[in-house]
Amino acid sequence: MKTVLVLNGPNLNLLGTREPAVYGSETLADVERICQQAALRLGLEAQCRQTNHEGQLIDWIHEAGRLCAQGEMVGVVLNAGALTHTSIALHDAIKGAAVPVVEYHISNVHARESFRHQSWISPVARAVMAGLGVKGYALAVEALVQVASAQAQSGKA
Ligand code: DQA
Repeated sequence: MKTVLVLNGPNLNLLGTREPAVYGSETLADVERICQQAALRLGLEAQCRQTNHEGQLIDWIHEAGRLCAQGEMVGVVLNAGALTHTSIALHDAIKGAAVPVVEYHISNVHARESFRHQSWISPVARAVMAGLGVKGYALAVEALVQVASAQAQSGKA
């Protein structure tokens, strides 16, 4: 069974207690269950990981690039948290690993502080989604499958 990788970055382990007015009351475990169910509906398996460390995210993206090239993985749903707005290293990792990425944010970052309007992920993502809450991860998994299959059909790297 092919996998989709769901990566959550800094502070997303605090979901449920962190700013519930912004992020809701569901937890990271709920996110992972939602992703696994969405993947299963598509005949896939979701692998869900969270880290507070930029380098760990980069290593996982490199690994995803290898697995995608081997045909074992569809791509990555990535919520890089605040690293979205700062990390050129993550931008380079996605580009370098040539991995299909759907960028996801629980909140509508464009309706928030101006420092959240800039994303280093968006220019190298296949699609960008935000503001659909925790349940929106299911839509992001579906979107990833859609963009990755469109990419495979067009024969692009
Ligand atoms: C977030 C938005 C980011 O600006 C913030 O730093 C996060 C979460 C979101 O899911 O809405 O940590 O990525």
